[in-house]
Amino acid sequence: TVTRTRILAGNWKMNHGPSQAARFFADFLPLVEPADGRSVVFFPPAVSFAAAREAVQGRPDVRLGVQNVHWEAGGAFTGELSVSMAADAGAELVLVGHSERRHVFGETIDETVRKTVAVLEGGLDPVLCVGETIDERRADRAEAVVVEQLGPVLAAVPVEHLARLVIAYEPVWAIGTGVTATPADAAAMHAAVRRTLEEVYGAGAAGQVPVLYGGSVKPENAAELMSQPGVDGVLVGGASLDPAGFAAIVRAAG
Ligand code: G3P
Repeated sequence: TVTRTRILAGNWKMNHGPSQAARFFADFLPLVEPADGRSVVFFPPAVSFAAAREAVQGRPDVRLGVQNVHWEAGGAFTGELSVSMAADAGAELVLVGHSERRHVFGETIDETVRKTVAVLEGGLDPVLCVGETIDERRADRAEAVVVEQLGPVLAAVPVEHLARLVIAYEPVWAIGTGVTATPADAAAMHAAVRRTLEEVYGAGAAGQVPVLYGGSVKPENAAELMSQPGVDGVLVGGASLDPAGFAAIVRAAG
Protein backbone atom coordinates (compact mmCIF):
# COMPACT_ATOMS: atom_id res chain seq x y z
CA THR A 1 0.00 0.00 0.00
CA VAL A 2 1.07 3.56 -0.69
CA THR A 3 2.12 5.57 2.38
CA ARG A 4 1.26 9.22 2.06
CA THR A 5 2.54 11.99 4.29
CA ARG A 6 -0.05 12.88 6.93
CA ILE A 7 -1.10 16.51 6.48
CA LEU A 8 -2.48 18.35 9.53
CA ALA A 9 -3.75 21.70 8.25
CA GLY A 10 -5.28 24.65 10.05
CA ASN A 11 -7.50 27.03 8.09
CA TRP A 12 -7.75 30.15 10.24
CA LYS A 13 -10.36 31.74 7.94
CA MET A 14 -10.99 35.38 9.01
CA ASN A 15 -9.33 35.00 12.41
CA HIS A 16 -5.94 35.82 14.02
CA GLY A 17 -4.55 39.13 12.82
CA PRO A 18 -0.75 39.55 12.84
CA SER A 19 -0.36 40.05 16.61
CA GLN A 20 -2.58 37.08 17.46
CA ALA A 21 -0.76 34.98 14.85
CA ALA A 22 2.59 35.70 16.50
CA ARG A 23 1.17 34.78 19.92
CA PHE A 24 -0.38 31.60 18.53
CA PHE A 25 2.93 30.30 17.20
CA ALA A 26 4.83 31.28 20.37
CA ASP A 27 2.44 28.98 22.26
CA PHE A 28 2.00 26.27 19.59
CA LEU A 29 5.51 25.54 18.30
CA PRO A 30 6.96 24.29 21.63
CA LEU A 31 4.07 21.81 21.86
CA VAL A 32 4.81 20.01 18.58
CA GLU A 33 8.10 18.42 17.53
CA PRO A 34 8.89 17.63 13.87
CA ALA A 35 7.97 14.02 13.06
CA ASP A 36 8.65 11.88 9.99
CA GLY A 37 5.69 11.34 7.69
CA ARG A 38 3.80 14.32 9.12
CA SER A 39 3.43 17.81 7.71
CA VAL A 40 1.76 20.68 9.59
CA VAL A 41 0.26 23.44 7.46
CA PHE A 42 -1.38 26.73 8.38
CA PHE A 43 -3.52 28.98 6.22
CA PRO A 44 -3.48 32.36 8.03
CA PRO A 45 -5.39 35.39 6.75
CA ALA A 46 -3.22 37.06 4.08
CA VAL A 47 -2.69 40.11 6.32
CA SER A 48 -1.06 37.81 8.94
CA PHE A 49 1.09 35.85 6.52
CA ALA A 50 4.32 37.77 7.12
CA ALA A 51 3.94 37.46 10.90
CA ALA A 52 3.29 33.74 10.55
CA ARG A 53 6.28 33.29 8.26
CA GLU A 54 8.52 35.10 10.74
CA ALA A 55 7.22 32.92 13.57
CA VAL A 56 7.81 29.57 11.86
CA GLN A 57 11.36 30.28 10.67
CA GLY A 58 13.53 27.31 11.63
CA ARG A 59 10.59 24.87 11.58
CA PRO A 60 10.70 23.12 8.18
CA ASP A 61 7.98 20.78 9.46
CA VAL A 62 5.54 23.70 9.39
CA ARG A 63 4.43 25.05 6.01
CA LEU A 64 2.22 28.04 5.22
CA GLY A 65 -0.42 28.63 2.58
CA VAL A 66 -2.91 31.28 1.53
CA GLN A 67 -6.67 30.83 1.69
CA ASN A 68 -7.50 32.11 -1.78
CA VAL A 69 -5.95 33.54 -4.94
CA HIS A 70 -7.15 35.08 -8.18
CA TRP A 71 -6.02 33.19 -11.29
CA GLU A 72 -4.82 36.31 -13.13
CA ALA A 73 -1.13 37.24 -12.80
CA GLY A 74 -1.81 40.82 -11.74
CA GLY A 75 -3.74 43.98 -12.63
CA ALA A 76 -6.99 45.69 -11.76
CA PHE A 77 -8.49 43.16 -9.33
CA THR A 78 -9.06 45.13 -6.14
CA GLY A 79 -8.85 43.02 -3.00
CA GLU A 80 -7.32 40.02 -4.73
CA LEU A 81 -3.83 38.46 -4.63
CA SER A 82 -2.04 36.43 -7.28
CA VAL A 83 -0.21 33.11 -7.10
CA SER A 84 3.14 34.80 -7.75
CA MET A 85 2.56 37.23 -4.87
CA ALA A 86 1.69 34.32 -2.57
CA ALA A 87 4.83 32.45 -3.66
CA ASP A 88 6.93 35.61 -3.19
CA ALA A 89 5.55 35.91 0.36
CA GLY A 90 6.66 32.32 1.09
CA ALA A 91 3.39 30.42 0.61
CA GLU A 92 3.78 26.79 -0.45
CA LEU A 93 0.09 25.85 -0.70
CA VAL A 94 -3.19 27.50 -1.70
CA LEU A 95 -6.73 26.57 -0.66
CA VAL A 96 -8.97 26.44 -3.74
CA GLY A 97 -12.72 25.88 -3.90
CA HIS A 98 -13.28 26.10 -0.15
CA SER A 99 -16.99 25.77 0.59
CA GLU A 100 -17.08 29.34 1.92
CA ARG A 101 -15.62 30.59 -1.38
CA ARG A 102 -18.25 28.56 -3.23
CA HIS A 103 -21.32 29.15 -1.06
CA VAL A 104 -20.61 32.55 0.52
CA PHE A 105 -18.70 34.28 -2.27
CA GLY A 106 -20.15 32.44 -5.27
CA GLU A 107 -17.04 30.78 -6.67
CA THR A 108 -18.04 28.60 -9.63
CA ILE A 109 -16.55 25.24 -10.56
CA ASP A 110 -14.96 26.90 -13.60
CA GLU A 111 -13.31 29.51 -11.35
CA THR A 112 -12.01 26.73 -9.10
CA VAL A 113 -10.52 25.06 -12.18
CA ARG A 114 -8.80 28.30 -13.24
CA LYS A 115 -7.41 28.84 -9.74
CA THR A 116 -6.12 25.26 -9.47
CA VAL A 117 -4.36 25.50 -12.84
CA ALA A 118 -2.84 28.89 -11.93
CA VAL A 119 -1.60 27.50 -8.58
CA LEU A 120 0.05 24.51 -10.25
CA GLU A 121 1.54 26.63 -13.04
CA GLY A 122 2.83 29.00 -10.35
CA GLY A 123 4.66 26.13 -8.61
CA LEU A 124 2.48 25.97 -5.49
CA ASP A 125 0.42 23.07 -4.13
CA PRO A 126 -3.36 23.43 -4.49
CA VAL A 127 -5.55 22.04 -1.69
CA LEU A 128 -8.77 21.43 -3.61
CA CYS A 129 -11.78 21.49 -1.30
CA VAL A 130 -14.91 19.55 -2.26
CA GLY A 131 -18.05 18.62 -0.36
CA GLU A 132 -21.83 18.41 -0.45
CA THR A 133 -24.52 20.42 1.35
CA ILE A 134 -27.01 18.78 3.70
CA ASP A 135 -29.74 19.08 1.05
CA GLU A 136 -27.56 17.27 -1.48
CA ARG A 137 -26.79 14.53 1.07
CA ARG A 138 -30.45 14.13 2.00
CA ALA A 139 -31.24 13.88 -1.74
CA ASP A 140 -28.70 11.03 -1.87
CA ARG A 141 -26.50 13.10 -4.22
CA ALA A 142 -23.46 13.54 -1.95
CA GLU A 143 -21.08 11.42 -4.01
CA ALA A 144 -22.42 12.77 -7.33
CA VAL A 145 -21.84 16.36 -6.18
CA VAL A 146 -18.28 15.63 -5.04
CA VAL A 147 -17.52 13.92 -8.36
CA GLU A 148 -19.07 16.91 -10.22
CA GLN A 149 -16.76 19.24 -8.27
CA LEU A 150 -13.69 17.04 -8.84
CA GLY A 151 -14.13 16.07 -12.48
CA PRO A 152 -13.56 19.41 -14.25
CA VAL A 153 -10.53 20.16 -12.08
CA LEU A 154 -8.89 16.77 -12.68
CA ALA A 155 -9.57 17.16 -16.42
CA ALA A 156 -7.38 20.28 -16.30
CA VAL A 157 -4.57 18.80 -14.16
CA PRO A 158 -1.98 16.79 -16.12
CA VAL A 159 -0.50 13.74 -14.38
CA GLU A 160 2.89 15.46 -14.10
CA HIS A 161 1.32 17.99 -11.69
CA LEU A 162 -0.49 15.36 -9.66
CA ALA A 163 2.27 15.04 -7.05
CA ARG A 164 1.44 18.54 -5.83
CA LEU A 165 -2.34 18.17 -5.61
CA VAL A 166 -4.02 17.73 -2.24
CA ILE A 167 -7.77 17.13 -1.91
CA ALA A 168 -9.86 18.00 1.15
CA TYR A 169 -13.31 16.51 1.55
CA GLU A 170 -15.33 18.91 3.67
CA PRO A 171 -19.05 18.12 3.96
CA VAL A 172 -20.56 21.61 4.09
CA TRP A 173 -23.00 20.51 6.80
CA ALA A 174 -20.07 19.56 9.06
CA ILE A 175 -18.22 22.87 8.75
CA GLY A 176 -18.45 24.99 11.87
CA THR A 177 -21.48 23.03 13.09
CA GLY A 178 -19.91 20.65 15.57
CA VAL A 179 -21.60 17.88 13.57
CA THR A 180 -18.75 15.77 12.22
CA ALA A 181 -19.21 13.22 9.48
CA THR A 182 -19.16 9.73 10.97
CA PRO A 183 -15.88 7.94 10.35
CA ALA A 184 -17.79 5.57 8.07
CA ASP A 185 -19.28 8.45 6.03
CA ALA A 186 -15.85 10.05 5.76
CA ALA A 187 -14.21 6.76 4.71
CA ALA A 188 -16.93 6.13 2.10
CA MET A 189 -16.51 9.55 0.49
CA HIS A 190 -12.71 9.34 0.62
CA ALA A 191 -13.02 6.02 -1.23
CA ALA A 192 -15.22 7.70 -3.86
CA VAL A 193 -12.64 10.48 -4.29
CA ARG A 194 -9.86 7.89 -4.61
CA ARG A 195 -11.89 5.94 -7.22
CA THR A 196 -12.40 9.14 -9.23
CA LEU A 197 -8.67 9.87 -9.12
CA GLU A 198 -7.91 6.31 -10.25
CA GLU A 199 -10.40 6.53 -13.14
CA VAL A 200 -8.63 9.65 -14.40
CA TYR A 201 -4.96 8.87 -13.68
CA GLY A 202 -4.74 5.14 -12.96
CA ALA A 203 -4.14 3.58 -9.54
CA GLY A 204 -0.40 4.28 -9.41
CA ALA A 205 -0.45 8.03 -10.03
CA ALA A 206 -3.70 8.51 -8.10
CA GLY A 207 -2.21 6.85 -5.03
CA GLN A 208 0.13 9.80 -4.39
CA VAL A 209 -2.68 12.32 -3.80
CA PRO A 210 -3.47 12.89 -0.10
CA VAL A 211 -7.18 13.21 0.71
CA LEU A 212 -7.87 15.15 3.90
CA TYR A 213 -11.09 15.31 5.92
CA GLY A 214 -12.44 18.63 7.14
CA GLY A 215 -15.56 19.54 9.10
CA SER A 216 -15.70 19.94 12.90
CA VAL A 217 -12.45 18.09 13.53
CA LYS A 218 -11.63 18.36 17.24
CA PRO A 219 -8.98 16.86 19.55
CA GLU A 220 -11.64 14.37 20.68
CA ASN A 221 -12.43 12.98 17.22
CA ALA A 222 -9.21 13.51 15.25
CA ALA A 223 -7.57 10.16 16.00
CA GLU A 224 -10.63 8.12 15.03
CA LEU A 225 -11.15 10.10 11.82
CA MET A 226 -7.49 9.71 10.82
CA SER A 227 -7.58 5.99 11.60
CA GLN A 228 -10.09 5.52 8.78
CA PRO A 229 -8.73 4.02 5.56
CA GLY A 230 -8.17 6.72 2.96
CA VAL A 231 -8.12 9.61 5.43
CA ASP A 232 -4.63 11.08 5.00
CA GLY A 233 -5.01 13.98 7.36
CA VAL A 234 -7.35 16.78 8.37
CA LEU A 235 -8.19 20.36 7.45
CA VAL A 236 -9.29 22.08 10.64
CA GLY A 237 -11.08 25.40 11.08
CA GLY A 238 -12.20 26.42 14.57
CA ALA A 239 -10.05 23.97 16.50
CA SER A 240 -6.89 25.21 14.71
CA LEU A 241 -7.18 28.61 16.36
CA ASP A 242 -6.24 27.21 19.77
CA PRO A 243 -2.55 26.27 20.19
CA ALA A 244 -3.05 23.43 22.68
CA GLY A 245 -6.10 22.05 20.87
CA PHE A 246 -4.44 22.00 17.47
CA ALA A 247 -1.24 20.55 18.97
CA ALA A 248 -3.41 17.71 20.33
CA ILE A 249 -4.85 17.13 16.85
CA VAL A 250 -1.35 17.07 15.35
CA ARG A 251 -0.19 14.56 17.94
CA ALA A 252 -3.28 12.41 17.26
CA ALA A 253 -1.83 11.74 13.82
CA GLY A 254 0.81 9.64 15.53
O1 G3P B 1 -11.33 24.38 5.98
C1 G3P B 1 -11.64 23.81 7.21
C2 G3P B 1 -12.96 24.25 7.69
O2 G3P B 1 -13.87 24.46 6.67
C3 G3P B 1 -13.54 23.32 8.75
O3 G3P B 1 -14.08 24.15 9.71
O4 G3P B 1 -14.50 24.88 12.03
O5 G3P B 1 -15.66 22.83 11.08
O6 G3P B 1 -13.19 22.76 11.62
P1 G3P B 1 -14.38 23.62 11.20
